Amino acid sequence: MKTVRKAVLPVAGLGTRVLPGGKTTPKNLLNVFDRPILAYVVAEARAAGIEHVVMVMGRGQGAIEDYFDRHVELESHLEARGKTDLLETLHAELPRPGEMSFVRQMAPLGLGHAVWCAREVIGDEPFAVILPDMLMDANPPALAQAIAAYEAVGGNVVVVEPAPPGEAHKYGIVALGEPAPGFAGRLNRMTGMVEKPPPGTEPSNLFISGRYILQPDIFAILSAQEAGAGGEIQLTDAMAKLMTVQSFHALQYDGSTYDCGDKLGLLRATVAFALKDPELGGQARAAVAALLKG
Ligand code: G1P
Repeated sequence: MKTVRKAVLPVAGLGTRVLPGGKTTPKNLLNVFDRPILAYVVAEARAAGIEHVVMVMGRGQGAIEDYFDRHVELESHLEARGKTDLLETLHAELPRPGEMSFVRQMAPLGLGHAVWCAREVIGDEPFAVILPDMLMDANPPALAQAIAAYEAVGGNVVVVEPAPPGEAHKYGIVALGEPAPGFAGRLNRMTGMVEKPPPGTEPSNLFISGRYILQPDIFAILSAQEAGAGGEIQLTDAMAKLMTVQSFHALQYDGSTYDCGDKLGLLRATVAFALKDPELGGQARAAVAALLKG
């Protein structure tokens, strides 16, 4: 079985749900507590053993490349003032040279198209897809849990979780078959999936929540994939085709998800990470309590 070494992060979305915040700052660079959403997600990928991250970008997102590069002027400023802790924090966020690639999705044609744009960098090996909007706080990291499931059952694995009541039609929804041994009922063979099913037709309430392990065969399918729900080339539609010839398993991971493509999700994530911060957590708790008291 081939190891999962590379991850695709589609970051090109326009971020309409977080406007005006995401107008000039790419939405995945918006802060959750003290760092951009993307910093958490890239850290998750690295902690899961990913060696190479491919960002699929849109126009005007150069700040993402800059975030994952040295900032020489800032570094010499910090150095001159002896702020070594901050310098180390900045350096810890950086990929090693050559560990990150940036490709352009030239038109917003959908998630399937975004993933397809990474095909040359991925090549002929299984890979991960991380939807950066979906911040997953878990130990071990959500992607590590997905990779462990992949290493147990092979094929393709997607992370799923229950959709909020009445909202399943907004997502990719899966149908489950028998459980795989050894995962306490949290890893099941998938028997179907559908992108944004009309309300009332959902095969379950479990939605595809943003971590995937896929075989490279998906790219040939994506090359010919036509637009589906919302007029977009959907990754779910291509996966459904791949499922006719390869196995798919759905993993209900152990952790908390924050949809940071949404204002309230961003708020929840910021509060949650602030409360957990080793240095400022206590003060954050007092600040939130005071606000709630009015
Ligand atoms: C995308 C996927 C969908 C998934 C969702 C999770 O949809 O197409 O299958 O459930 O992300 O957020 P989008 O949010 O781009 O409409």
